[in-house]
Amino acid sequence: MNILITGACGFVGFSIANKLLKSKKFRIYGIDNVNSYYSKKLKNKRLDVLKKNKNFFFYKRDINAYKDILNEYKDIHFDIICHFAAQAGVRYTVINPNSYLHSNVKGFKNFCKFVKFKKPKKFIFASSSSVYGDLKIYPVRETNRLKPKNLYAKTKKFNEEYVKNYFKKTKIKCIGLRLFTIYGEWGRPDMLIFKYIKSNLDKKNFSLNSNGQHYRDFTYINDVSSIVENLLYLKIKKSYEIFNICSNKPIKILDVIKKINKWNNTFKFKAKSSKILNKIEVTKTHGDNRRVLKLLKKFKYTNFDKALYNTIKWYFDKNINKIT
Ligand SMILES: NC(=O)c1ccc[n+]([C@@H]2O[C@H](COP(=O)([O-])OP(=O)(O)OC[C@H]3O[C@@H](n4cnc5c(N)ncnc54)[C@H](O)[C@@H]3O)[C@@H](O)[C@H]2O)c1
Repeated sequence: MNILITGACGFVGFSIANKLLKSKKFRIYGIDNVNSYYSKKLKNKRLDVLKKNKNFFFYKRDINAYKDILNEYKDIHFDIICHFAAQAGVRYTVINPNSYLHSNVKGFKNFCKFVKFKKPKKFIFASSSSVYGDLKIYPVRETNRLKPKNLYAKTKKFNEEYVKNYFKKTKIKCIGLRLFTIYGEWGRPDMLIFKYIKSNLDKKNFSLNSNGQHYRDFTYINDVSSIVENLLYLKIKKSYEIFNICSNKPIKILDVIKKINKWNNTFKFKAKSSKILNKIEVTKTHGDNRRVLKLLKKFKYTNFDKALYNTIKWYFDKNINKIT
């Protein structure tokens, strides 16, 4: 089976590609422009892992390069296309809003044009829990209304609506994944766990917004990869499906910080509490995961403490501090 994965050097794209390659059932074609939103060294380290497998083929390109991508893959049929290349992150919307328009709007549309031309059986793409905004109805269900609060969330809502219309008259089954805060080995350095560890190792201040009283539905990357692997095989009835990909177990940020402190014996970590919650961020994410679980039938999520331990251990074992 041939699978194309965009964002293959990113956290999610890489982790899924790596898992699928280990199963030895797929040829994985990866695309990524290896941009500098965060450490290119980390992205290249991920790429080195994938390149060790003879069933992995990489094409360094921006998803906007429609003609180049079409030409590169003119003789290859893809059974499934997974789209994870995007400008991620909420806070960066204030710093560089154009990158969201470039990758999540223009790039997304250009890439969809490519997908339509290649006619895979399935098109799986990343949306985000942020499309719900501060709904205050928990756990949020896929049928709830969407109230995006920032530019990132708006681009993700746009992606969902665009796919729903653009592929309407095709036979391509489209699956949108509303991903909730993902963490784990090979994770993003701009997200809570590694950001907190790094700023402490570098002896910099770490500011904990809203005194750490906000909640996130932390979802372990290995669980996300397993769910996506299952979705490759499962029969999807509708032409367009959307799934919350979450653990349905929100955790208070302050508790996560305490757990990190507990797992770490080497350093004494500190966080400076601040009352302020960034206006563009939501106070709580908590998703209902019954829709995807109904399809998967049997699925067991990894215990948070165990997964957090794996995550921190990986960070120190690989000396990630030195390259991020
Ligand atoms: N990680 C999470 O917690 C989370 C939560 C919700 C949604 N998501 C979504 O999941 C997807 C993957 O997220 P991630 O955490 O792996 O992010 P990431 O930044 O680690 O990975 C994205 C990858 O896409 C590449 N990329 C970006 N713009 C590109 C472009 N124009 N052309 C080609 N490549 C490009 C980047 O170089 C990067 O390697 C994104 O769509 C993100 O919005 C992630």
